[in-house]
Amino acid sequence: MKKLIAILSLALLPLSAMAGGGEVHLDEANIDLANHAAIQRGAKTFVNYCMGCHSAQYFRYSKLTEVGLTEQEIKDNLMLGGGKIRDQMTIAMSPADAAEWFGAPPPDLTLIARVKHDGADWLYSYLRSFYVDDSRPMGVNNTVFPNVGMPHVLADLQGVQKAVYKEVKHGDKTEHVVDHLELVEPGSMTPAEYDATVRDLVTFLVHVSEPMKLERQRLGIWVLLFLGVLFVLAYLLKKEYWKDIH
Ligand code: HEC
Repeated sequence: MKKLIAILSLALLPLSAMAGGGEVHLDEANIDLANHAAIQRGAKTFVNYCMGCHSAQYFRYSKLTEVGLTEQEIKDNLMLGGGKIRDQMTIAMSPADAAEWFGAPPPDLTLIARVKHDGADWLYSYLRSFYVDDSRPMGVNNTVFPNVGMPHVLADLQGVQKAVYKEVKHGDKTEHVVDHLELVEPGSMTPAEYDATVRDLVTFLVHVSEPMKLERQRLGIWVLLFLGVLFVLAYLLKKEYWKDIH
């Protein structure tokens, strides 16, 4: 019995760890996976700003025809390094070099939206939460991913944010924690435009992590309806079979 309890509590451990991880506040991404134009815009941002370091190697360029792009449009606008339409979204940078440059390798992002708890909200918040921190090697830090190795690659668009701190007392120790971020130097976009750009990028990343999601949900409804009809038929059949016995 003791063993069983031990095993059960071990099995539940990841849950408690997840519950404890909810300290950072995440903003809601509010993405719409049926919005193909958003996925297309997000793909463009991804190839322009992210694929210098991150691949999405379990996704093929040709799959973007499913969100309304033609093969020619994909080739002209998204396949910056040339290649074939059926190619996967890979990059040339070697993980070993990258780890040396950034202190950590930039992970493949195909499944990132599913790996993260609250994937879309996490990504949306993360990409909007970089702030200047001279103590970090890249000159920036991030409230959602503290001490991140990634530079703020969208800084030209968003501008520069500074942290405004507040004091938090733990017994007789006071700690300075980030209260909120403040835009101190505007980028080429307004905050609303930047949020919209990030939302599109996140829509793309969620789509890539599960291209069949909408299809699966649609199918799910039909499966449930089918089971419902089957239940009624089975019930009527059962009544028919048993009617002479009672
Ligand atoms: C100059 C290289 C570089 C570029 C460009 C870049 N990243 Fe990163 N990114 C990194 C590195 C390095 C890490 C790993 C940081 C760490 O673990 O500390 C990272 C981490 C991440 C993570 C966290 C992954 C995890 O496992 O927690 C996400 C999400 C991410 N990047 C998204 C993006 C997106 C979206 C873009 C495009 C807007 C982008 N990155 C552009 C270098 C880059």
